Amino acid sequence: MLFRHLTVAVAISTAVAQRPSNISICDYYTTALLKNNTAANQKTLLTLVVNTAVIGNYTQPNVGISVAGILAPGMYNGTSVDLTPYFDGGFDSSNAGGSSGVSMNFLDGGGAAPLMKNMPSNDTTSNQYILITHLYEFFGVLLGCSMQGGADYSAYMGESSMYEVHKFMDLSAAEVGYFITQVANSAASFGVAKDDLTIVGNALNSLFGMRCSAATTVVPAQGPQLQAICIDPTCPLAANATCSAYGNAVEPSVAVSSLVPNMTATGVSSSGTSSVTGTSSPVPTTGGAGVYGLSMAAVAAGFAALLL
Ligand code: HEM
Ligand SMILES: *[C@@H]1O[C@H](CO)[C@@H](O)[C@H](O)[C@H]1NC(C)=O
Ligand SMILES: *[C@@H]1O[C@H](CO)[C@@H](O)[C@H](O)[C@H]1NC(C)=O
Ligand SMILES: *[C@@H]1O[C@H](CO)[C@@H](O)[C@H](O)[C@H]1NC(C)=O
Ligand SMILES: *[C@@H]1O[C@H](CO)[C@@H](O)[C@H](O)[C@H]1NC(C)=O
Ligand SMILES: *[C@@H]1O[C@H](CO)[C@@H](O)[C@H](O)[C@H]1NC(C)=O
Ligand SMILES: *[C@@H]1O[C@H](CO)[C@@H](O)[C@H](O)[C@H]1NC(C)=O
Ligand SMILES: *[C@@H]1O[C@H](CO)[C@@H](O)[C@H](O)[C@H]1NC(C)=O
Repeated sequence: MLFRHLTVAVAISTAVAQRPSNISICDYYTTALLKNNTAANQKTLLTLVVNTAVIGNYTQPNVGISVAGILAPGMYNGTSVDLTPYFDGGFDSSNAGGSSGVSMNFLDGGGAAPLMKNMPSNDTTSNQYILITHLYEFFGVLLGCSMQGGADYSAYMGESSMYEVHKFMDLSAAEVGYFITQVANSAASFGVAKDDLTIVGNALNSLFGMRCSAATTVVPAQGPQLQAICIDPTCPLAANATCSAYGNAVEPSVAVSSLVPNMTATGVSSSGTSSVTGTSSPVPTTGGAGVYGLSMAAVAAGFAALLL
């Protein structure tokens, strides 16, 4: 699928009306940007949003919002963040089923090049293919895509517990906040309205950003699961914390030091946890509440509003 962005460019200027509360974010913006609310178009919307969140904005034009991307180093709330070593095998941080993390390369399907062509990877068997297609599916569930679940746009087929997937990464509040900010900035770059960005940001933060959060259902077919992705001591404690259900959070070791940024220069400790605040960054991120008014405080209302 080689999506031509003229359609989006024309539609963006008309996507300013208020979203009716009985239409999901996915359905509303699929119709606004791609006209026909089909499964294939919903998948295209999620492809655009996920690929842009991962590698930064690549579609021309957008609404004038620059997205650095999850793979770009940046700042969040005064802390320098660099997530790439979790994705390229730099850290022993993937869960392959054992009792500690292992190094895996998730950029093994051609890296950014296929993403810029609105594809998940240059093949259908790489770690990259599996991860990126799972992200299309998972975020489609979060955004309430009504047509998901058939050949044109598969239901989510990945792991059910986001804690289990991410537990060997020992992610911090700054790392998770940076990731969520990139997702929100990506959506904003396609014209998603501020109120809808707030809903998405609050839902991501309350579902995945609260330490020790009680088991919660995200994918209805998968039932309640431990979902906390933010697990290091900087993460805010969930309201109904069930810490005994979670294992101890342990920093991942460095697997390939050449893939881990120079620790002296970047203020990143050997585990990847930032130890220095206020380091300057070439990437102009705002962090914190951000320019789009995303409140990063947990708001319980967020998730229900997504699943209309
Ligand atoms: C905060 C919201 C986040 C959500 C909703 C999310 C969601 C997901 C999902 C659905 C998968 C695929 C699981 C599967 O294939 O079974 C995944 C995998 C992964 N995520 Fe996240 N994630 C989030 C934050 C982060 C952050 C902050 C990082 C930091 C580096 C990260 C790194 C990864 C990596 C490396 C994988 C591949 C893990 C593996 O397959 O072993 N994620 N994530
Ligand atoms: C949403 O509500 C409006 C007004 O009540 C109604 O006309 C429309 O059919 C509803 N749409 C859906 C998808 O339920
Ligand atoms: C919209 O999708 C429906 C169902 O796939 C199809 O019949 C119709 O031709 C499509 N309309 C446009 C304008 O693409
Ligand atoms: C990213 O977005 C900014 C702001 O609209 C734009 O100036 C820049 O050219 C875009 N970059 C790419 C590669 O499309
Ligand atoms: C896809 O990308 C990988 C990693 O860059 C490369 O080794 C492989 O040759 C590429 N395959 C194709 C079909 O381009
Ligand atoms: C915490 O538990 C109480 C009682 O079960 C419930 O009413 C409340 O909604 C829960 N709060 C969260 C954030 O899950
Ligand atoms: C890391 O940066 C420090 C200070 O800039 C420098 O002295 C050191 O040689 C660098 N190490 C590597 C491995 O690049
Ligand atoms: C930003 O960092 C400060 C100080 O470390 C902390 O108190 C605050 O909760 C953080 N805010 C966000 C939105 O992460």
